Amino acid sequence: ESTTEVDVSAIEPGQAIKAVFRKQPLFVRRLTPKEISEADAVPLSALRDPETLADRTKEGHTDMLVTMGVCTHLGCVPLGAAEGENKGEFGGYFCPCHGSSYDTAARIRKGPAPKNLVVPDYVFSSDTTITVG
Ligand code: FES
Repeated sequence: ESTTEVDVSAIEPGQAIKAVFRKQPLFVRRLTPKEISEADAVPLSALRDPETLADRTKEGHTDMLVTMGVCTHLGCVPLGAAEGENKGEFGGYFCPCHGSSYDTAARIRKGPAPKNLVVPDYVFSSDTTITVG
């Protein structure tokens, strides 16, 4: 199947963009130092789907969080990637369909979703571009 190139150079810390990968929404978010600290402070034992932020990002790019924008409950598109949208009580993404809240590493923290937002296969094809798929 096809790959998707995303230019990530214009994403400021604290911002996210929406792209499309294989006809599904893709979120690319640049985390602030505070958001990274918040993610790293959560013990794995507190997580429904235990993964560290480092597990979910690329070495040397732990501020760049690339996930599918598809709730792992029933597939709605969570809020929080666009300016002014509700990021939910854990500061990441919020799914308004049935109230799942994801944290700054897009890990499920509250609500019915069973899994973290999926991290697709991708590579940094340059310092400013990722290739997904
Ligand atoms: Fe997201 Fe149900 S589809 S909470």
